[in-house]
Amino acid sequence: SASDKGTYPYYMLKEIDEQPNVMRRLSAKYLSQDGQTVLDPNLLKAMANADRIYLVGAGTSYHAGLVGKMQLERLTGIPTEVRVASEFAYDEPLLSEHPFFIFLSQSGETADSRQVLVNVNQQHYPSLTITNVANSTLSREATFTLLLDAGPEISVASTKAYTAQIALEAILAKAVGEHLNRAVARQFNLKQQLALVAQGMQMIVDEKAQIEKVAQDAFVNAQQAFYIGRGIDYTVSIEAALKLKEISYVHAEGFASGELKHGTIALIEAGTPVIGIITASRTASLTRSNLAETEARGAKTFVIARAGLSEAGDTFVIPDVDELLTPLLSVLPAQLLAYYTSLNKGLNVDLPRNLAKSVTVE
Ligand code: G6P
Repeated sequence: SASDKGTYPYYMLKEIDEQPNVMRRLSAKYLSQDGQTVLDPNLLKAMANADRIYLVGAGTSYHAGLVGKMQLERLTGIPTEVRVASEFAYDEPLLSEHPFFIFLSQSGETADSRQVLVNVNQQHYPSLTITNVANSTLSREATFTLLLDAGPEISVASTKAYTAQIALEAILAKAVGEHLNRAVARQFNLKQQLALVAQGMQMIVDEKAQIEKVAQDAFVNAQQAFYIGRGIDYTVSIEAALKLKEISYVHAEGFASGELKHGTIALIEAGTPVIGIITASRTASLTRSNLAETEARGAKTFVIARAGLSEAGDTFVIPDVDELLTPLLSVLPAQLLAYYTSLNKGLNVDLPRNLAKSVTVE
C-alpha cells in the first residue's frame, strides 16, 4: 500500500524517490494534455481580484512559500508576502485592502497556521489551503482547497510535500496569470517543464551513491555546515539547512551568500563544509566568489549547479529547467545529503529527536 515502506530502510528515502511520480501526477491532475490549467474558475477570480497575496506556513511549508512568492509575483504581477504562521498569528501586519491568503500545510493541521486562518475568517477574507490531506482542518476552514496528492508523507522530515507545494504553486501562478491575461503566464510551458523536472529528479535520485560518499567524507563528522545562495537559491539554502539540522543534528544554516561576509563568515574553520546553490543566472558568478571567500578561510566547498551554469569540478550538476522551477531539482541533492548523513551516523532518520510530524499546539 501507499504507506508501506517496502524494501526501503526508511520512509524518507522512499518519499525522496517518489518525487518524479509526484510531479507527473500533479501535471496530469492540474494541466490538460495540451497544457491548459484545470483549476476552479472561482478560485482564479478571487485571486485575480486580490491586491496582495499572503502566503502562510510553518517549517518546510514556509520555505515552499518563499518560492511561491517568486512564482506568483512573476506570473501574476500581484505583490506577494510570505509569513511564518506563528509570527503572523499574533502580530498581523498592516494588510492591503483586498488580501488573499494561501495556507501551505502538508498535514493541514498545524496549530500555528490554524490560528492565522481563524483570524482571517473573522475578517471575512478569502483563502486557499494547499495541503496533502483531504478534509484536514485547514482544508475545511478555508474558502478553497487544492490537494497535493503526494501520497502519505510519514517521515518527519518533509521532502515530497515541499516539491509538490512548489509545483502546485507554479500551476496556480500560471493559471491566475492567464486569468489576468498576462503573456508571461501564457508563454510558460509548464506541462513540458514539469516533464523535464520529473526526468531531472530521476537522474538525481539515481546518483545516490555519489551523494552518500560526500556525506561520509565531509558531513558525518562535521560540527556545522552552511548552504549559501542568492534569490531563489537562497530560499532553497534555508530548506537544505533545515533538512540537515532536523535529521543529522549537524548545526546548519542557510545564508544569502552576499550576507555571509557581514558576520557569519567568522564561523568558518578549517574543513567547515559550505555548499553553494547556483541556478540563478544573474547571480551565479557572485555566489561563486562568495564561495571562494569561504574556501580562502579553510572551508571545504561544494557546488550544486544547474547544467547551463556549471563549471568543471562542481559536485552536483542538475539538469536545466526554467528558473522558477529550479528548487524542484536543487533541493534533491540536499535531501539526500541529509538522509545519508543521518543514516551514516546511525540515527533514526524517520523519527528525529524532539520533533513531531504535525505540531497541533501553538
Ligand atoms: C512540523 C514538521 C515539519 C513541517 C512543519 C509544518 O514541524 O516536523 O516537517 O514542515 O511541521 O507542517 P505542515 O503539516 O503544516 O506542513
